[in-house]
Amino acid sequence: MGKPDNKGKKDRVKDKKIKETETNVQDTVSEGSAESMSAITSDMANEATDNDLISGENAPMVLAENLVKIYKTSELEVLALQGLDLKVEKGELTAIIGNSGSGKSTFLNMLGGLDEPSAGKLFVDGKNLFKLSQKEKVIYKRDTVGFVWQNNGRNLLPFMNAMENIMTPMHLTGEKNKKERALELLDLVGMSHRKFSRMNQLSGGEQQRIAIAIALANRPKLLLADEPTGSVDRKTADYIFDVFKRLNKEYGQTIIIVTHDVELSKKVARVVAIRDGKISSERILKERYSNFGNGEINWMEEETQDEFAIVDRAGRIQIPRKMLDSLGLKDNKIKVTYDEPVIKLENPNEKRNVKEN
Ligand SMILES: Nc1ncnc2c1ncn2[C@@H]1O[C@H](COP(=O)(O)OP(=O)(O)OP(=O)(O)O)[C@@H](O)[C@H]1O
Ligand SMILES: [Mg+2]
Repeated sequence: MGKPDNKGKKDRVKDKKIKETETNVQDTVSEGSAESMSAITSDMANEATDNDLISGENAPMVLAENLVKIYKTSELEVLALQGLDLKVEKGELTAIIGNSGSGKSTFLNMLGGLDEPSAGKLFVDGKNLFKLSQKEKVIYKRDTVGFVWQNNGRNLLPFMNAMENIMTPMHLTGEKNKKERALELLDLVGMSHRKFSRMNQLSGGEQQRIAIAIALANRPKLLLADEPTGSVDRKTADYIFDVFKRLNKEYGQTIIIVTHDVELSKKVARVVAIRDGKISSERILKERYSNFGNGEINWMEEETQDEFAIVDRAGRIQIPRKMLDSLGLKDNKIKVTYDEPVIKLENPNEKRNVKEN
């Protein structure tokens, strides 16, 4: 007598769906396939929770879970995000750093509603971004996020002056006091004196300040900036960065900035590093500094931040490159010992000078 099949039809269909997805992923992903596969299967298994809104006072502004992005072209496939997890609380100013090609813009574009993942979940301000209808997505882009790019040509209309540029997005929301709001924003970014200048009459740094004002025009809950200081000099970069910090401190604006600028990233309370499409480490302002006003800290001289490595769901961590290099490993084996409460990682071939009595 054959074993009775206890599974309902619905379960069998779901099993089949998961199996098919696994096969597809295996077909398409060469590197990190286990990670992406687990992302997709766990996503499907958790389908029931997908519709739950993460909302309420204490809900995070951003919650990314197991985000996977595979770009396919006719010649190759690129695994741009490999199971990225990140939580950003309301009112935080977070910098994202990472090498070129590590997936920073890919992630930011997803937050901005400009790109879709291959798998994973992304909640912003309680909205499940990948479950939004086309109409809802338009509203999301208009009301919830503001975007500042490195190349501000994407934000600015060259034939309009600064005021008109800033008022343009307000026409979509029916803001009553457009002029008043535009003047307030011009003041915030220190550009009141150039309100009637057209964009081609402004320097790159000045244009970038107008771009920030435009991104803020509709009072977004989340401000995203991709390399906003990438094309300006040091002094202008510092000024622009101070605008972001003031926005965060005085208005509680939640901000995520992607930057290559190590000097600037040192001035942020939270810096997350992306490596190969995953958050690999985090630097957080030390407790004893977090109570000071920003102006009181000598950011450049003090060791103000603690560094943490991130442990993923499978218990893996990425060892910071410098530390790994300093071990001088000959192959991919590392000696792990536990000397409570410390876990030690050592080169197994290293002969240590042990003093013997
Ligand atoms: N539209 C696309 N088609 C194919 N591959 C893409 C596409 N967009 C990005 N990629 C690839 O995905 C990976 C991540 O790219 P991404 O732009 O997110 O990197 P980044 O961290 O922002 O780098 P950078 O610091 O140079 O701006 C890269 O290998 C890139 O080549
Ligand atoms: Mg980029």
